[in-house]
Amino acid sequence: MHDFKYVNGRLHCEGVAIEGLVRRHGSPLYVYSQSTLVHHFQSLHQALEPLDHLVCYAAKANSNLGVLGVLAGEGSGFDIVSQGELRRIIAAGGDPSKCVFAGVGKSEEEIAYALEQGIYSFNVESEPELLRINRVAARLKRRAPVAVRINPNVDAHTHSKITTGTYENKFGVAFELVEQVYARAARLKNIWLRGVQMHIGSQLTEVKPFELAVAKVLPLVVRLKENHGLEFFSIGGGIGIVYDPSLASGTAQWWKSPAARKLLTPASYAQKLVPLLQPLGLRILVEPGRFIVGNAGILVTRVEYVKQTGRKRFVIVDAAMNDLIRPAFYDAYHEIVPLRRKVGKLVKSDVVGPICESGDYFCKDRPLPGFVEGDLLALMSAGAYGSVMGSNYNSRPFPVEILVNGRKHAVVRERQPIDSIWALEKKAVWQK
Ligand code: LLP
Repeated sequence: MHDFKYVNGRLHCEGVAIEGLVRRHGSPLYVYSQSTLVHHFQSLHQALEPLDHLVCYAAKANSNLGVLGVLAGEGSGFDIVSQGELRRIIAAGGDPSKCVFAGVGKSEEEIAYALEQGIYSFNVESEPELLRINRVAARLKRRAPVAVRINPNVDAHTHSKITTGTYENKFGVAFELVEQVYARAARLKNIWLRGVQMHIGSQLTEVKPFELAVAKVLPLVVRLKENHGLEFFSIGGGIGIVYDPSLASGTAQWWKSPAARKLLTPASYAQKLVPLLQPLGLRILVEPGRFIVGNAGILVTRVEYVKQTGRKRFVIVDAAMNDLIRPAFYDAYHEIVPLRRKVGKLVKSDVVGPICESGDYFCKDRPLPGFVEGDLLALMSAGAYGSVMGSNYNSRPFPVEILVNGRKHAVVRERQPIDSIWALEKKAVWQK
């Protein structure tokens, strides 16, 4: 679901024509829909209503202060992976006591900062990390709330770069070793064993892998709860979204197709998982990133040139892999649509950016409207892992980011001034 639609042939975000935003703020630009964000958060929150639960939005998917502020306003918790993310959440009005801190490489400084802010839990990824947290907590005269991340060794059947729940990955503590680790952790004076966590991967489009992973770890979670008096179980994030609506709508009555029936929605997720989790009597945490923000954002770009070489038609746009790296990095599909509806035949095109790399493309040989110089296009479903994975490669500034709410819009990130790209650099001044 999202709030981007054509009104009189012009693409709108909620009540705002996107062309107008480009006229005022230039291109490329990211546009986010507040109502889509809120709708996604609320639909998951409500589907989990039968459980004592907390939705902890995974800030890594999009940590723009405007986006975080909307979710904080809905009462969301947050899944964070760095001191920087925690600082952003506090700056956006989020509540540190609803934050869980994940990641395999937490530094002493990060642990101390998070402890001082009173986060809900550290999701611990190894025994050496547990010892370090204990040491830092002792120095600060605190007890650190922790959950150990179980690596359940199940295959999430997603892209290899975003699967996390098998022993091929660096994440978590191996299923078979978890109880020993809890037993040793129970002897650490400054550790408070508050919960247990797992996360099997990202962009899962079926509920089955979640079900299998939860079913596999349940007996272990029950034993941990009894032996250590745990309070919560986090089942991680990973709920996938539809990037290619034509796949879901392959048949005339696509909603009756097997693919559509299996589509992962908050309702289908809750229907399978709530009955498994309810008898545990634990507070359940979920850590969705992409599901909340993925379809709530688009990247708008202008066609600079159209170039025909041999068999190929290249549509060269002013956004590039430094703005949205997902196609280059994961071969990810993003739907590409014109801001102004076009009639006429579709032509096979490669949409590419100006960066000096062959990997700088948004699609290859895709039947698209016959775009010409000056046309404006939208790369859909770019709200998650879009701007946050951006870089200044080729000394390209970060684009403007805009949040739309009904008929109003707000600039939630200014376009980066070009000379700020090298503002922290210096010509060498030698020291001995
Ligand atoms: N919790 C943990 C411990 C995670 O590692 C992640 C994502 C999440 C929650 C949120 O997962 P989500 O609900 O968004 O699937 N850059 C990649 C995705 C990397 C995901 C990393 N971990 C992409 O663009 O597809």
